[in-house]
Amino acid sequence: MIGEKGTALKVAIFGGAIIFSFAAFFLIDKKKKKCTKLTLHQPVWVHGKEPLDIIKIARDRFSNGIGIEICQNDIKDFDCQVGGHMAINGRPGVKRLGTSYIMKPVIKDSRGSREVGFYEAVYGGAFNAAFCTLKDFIPLYYGVYCPPDNSYDFLVLSDVTRLYSCPCAMDVKMGTQSFEPDAPPEKRARELIKYPEQKKLGFRITGLRVYNIKQKQHIVVDKAHLPSGNILANLGKGFYDGERLRIPVLKEILAKIKTVLDWFLLQNSLWFVSSSLLLTYEGDPSCPVKTDLKIIDFAHIRNGDSKDTGFILGLQNLIERLETLIENEVYYCSILSSDSTFI
Ligand SMILES: Nc1ncnc2c1ncn2[C@@H]1O[C@H](COP(=O)(O)OP(=O)(O)OP(=O)(O)O)[C@@H](O)[C@H]1O
Ligand SMILES: [Mg+2]
Repeated sequence: MIGEKGTALKVAIFGGAIIFSFAAFFLIDKKKKKCTKLTLHQPVWVHGKEPLDIIKIARDRFSNGIGIEICQNDIKDFDCQVGGHMAINGRPGVKRLGTSYIMKPVIKDSRGSREVGFYEAVYGGAFNAAFCTLKDFIPLYYGVYCPPDNSYDFLVLSDVTRLYSCPCAMDVKMGTQSFEPDAPPEKRARELIKYPEQKKLGFRITGLRVYNIKQKQHIVVDKAHLPSGNILANLGKGFYDGERLRIPVLKEILAKIKTVLDWFLLQNSLWFVSSSLLLTYEGDPSCPVKTDLKIIDFAHIRNGDSKDTGFILGLQNLIERLETLIENEVYYCSILSSDSTFI
């Protein structure tokens, strides 16, 4: 009798354990899936449509209490802009707001609403675990400011360069192509001739600003002076202070790029077409090493159904090139010291 009871108990425990393991496996598996699936506000992704409601939500979010009061006197030109559109034909460039924020004009078509929609999705509650991690790699987002004259809406973001007394910055446009998969042939052709190597490399430098200790001033290099075919020397320019390459800075940035690569190797839902890595660091050599890496520019971001292979290739090549620069410090210093930019 006792033996039968004991056997029945064992069977019950064994059966319970199996059911429990199945349930746990199912739950963990479901949780895993939940964490990697990114979902965005749908209207942003409807091609060709301008979802003004997203912009309106963003404007409301801004005016309803993030606590930034905008005084016209606090809006200045932003002297740390290294890439992207400068002010032209009535379209404003990036502005500085006070000491901690920048304002980026929202382009008045689907590019503008896509970028706003992206920030809204990441910061506005439509996020899950994967989005939470992504937040570490993008600027803080506060909403959309609509000035009294209604001319242009502006995205209000944290100014990444606010961290430094002497900010240095480099804009690295990522991906093997800077046009969307369904771009018309003329757009493709226009983009492809800008920097033919991008297809192979997966990145290109569109501008940089570096502090030169000999000249005691910043040197600004725009894309016209960062020619195709010279990638290591061009990368070096962003980290050469007139006497040496900032190796500890390069090492820290390299580690950050590797973290971003880890994120990209896990996500399968977003293609960051034409986004950039904004690499920044403290240019004052008497200050401790301080660096930052942010992904910026989401005007062409799209839902995808696979990994963003172009961005991944760019990250891998960037890592490899930066490692080469570090390993061959003496050689590249001698090349950069004879570059007319630094003499
Ligand atoms: N959050 C930020 N903090 C500091 N600087 C920034 C920030 N966002 C952008 N910038 C500066 O502004 C430049 C242009 O930004 P961005 O690439 O977003 O605009 P854009 O290329 O003109 O936009 P688009 O391609 O959508 O027209 C960057 O290269 C960088 O120098
Ligand atoms: Mg840009």
